[in-house]
Amino acid sequence: MPNFLDIHTTDPAALRDILATAGDMKTARGSRPKGTPDDELPLDGHVVALIFEKPSTRTRVSFDVGVRQMGGTSLVLSGAEMQLGHGETIADTARVLSRYVDLIMIRTFGEDILHEMAEHATVPVINGLTDNSHPCQIMADVMTFEEHRGPIAGKRVAWMGDGNNVAQSFLHAAASFGFDFTFSGPAQLDPRDDLVGAVRNAGRDVRIERDPVKAVADADLVVTDTWVSMGDAESSRQRRHNLLRPYQVNERLMEAAPDHAMVMHCLPAHRGEEITDAILDGPRSVVFDEAENRLHAQKAIMRWCLGA
Ligand code: CP
Ligand code: NVA
Repeated sequence: MPNFLDIHTTDPAALRDILATAGDMKTARGSRPKGTPDDELPLDGHVVALIFEKPSTRTRVSFDVGVRQMGGTSLVLSGAEMQLGHGETIADTARVLSRYVDLIMIRTFGEDILHEMAEHATVPVINGLTDNSHPCQIMADVMTFEEHRGPIAGKRVAWMGDGNNVAQSFLHAAASFGFDFTFSGPAQLDPRDDLVGAVRNAGRDVRIERDPVKAVADADLVVTDTWVSMGDAESSRQRRHNLLRPYQVNERLMEAAPDHAMVMHCLPAHRGEEITDAILDGPRSVVFDEAENRLHAQKAIMRWCLGA
């Protein structure tokens, strides 16, 4: 049974199948009440464990609601309240949970923890964010882009700010979905070199552009994220703010972008820091569509993992 650990470790054709399923399921639900089940119940009889070692609003609620809409049952587990947070190993946790549940989603710190969980679980494991990647987010983002603008292949995404987990998943997605990528941020916070190299080797144009105004000039999509991610040292906050302030997504910056360029942010946003109210709440922003599409994309990811 397949895991969904990262964009670049999932076959591009499977990523496309997942997005097609997500779109079909979203259309089929239409505007029916959120608490009602789907017509098809592919998770009937299935139990899903949702483990959080970091805070969450969107991931937690969208997975939980998605499982219920598909007829399954979910268990939301805080890492701190599990024995996992008191010395039990990841491997033993994976072995035990696999005896009870059909699917595990984990939000954690290092990607080594995610991989250890996947190695020792005998049920599929989904990456709900690590320090290095956030693939479920990027599936929702590609879905959202294509709903508004058609195929993302050949388009250019400009990332503003920290080369963090979400930025790195966007880079993975550039290779898998065939779009180009501009990173604009301070050199101290660049995405990993090996990752940039791999995406270039896959034939995509990856530009590192320190000037944010130049970076958005040919962008079809401008994306940003928090300046201090969960897992970043609190002591780095001031330094990060100082480094990242020039990369705020604001009205002046967006005047330099093409008229059709949209704005995304995975949320939660720090209004007035990485993005202004006027942009977040303005006509270019699709942030709440992105948030909604977490639900639809993840329902399709769970079905793919379970072959359901
Ligand atoms: N975008 C995202 O993953 O949000 P949460 O941290 O609220 O889950
Ligand atoms: N980069 C952010 C994303 C939150 C959804 C973090 O890891 O905190």
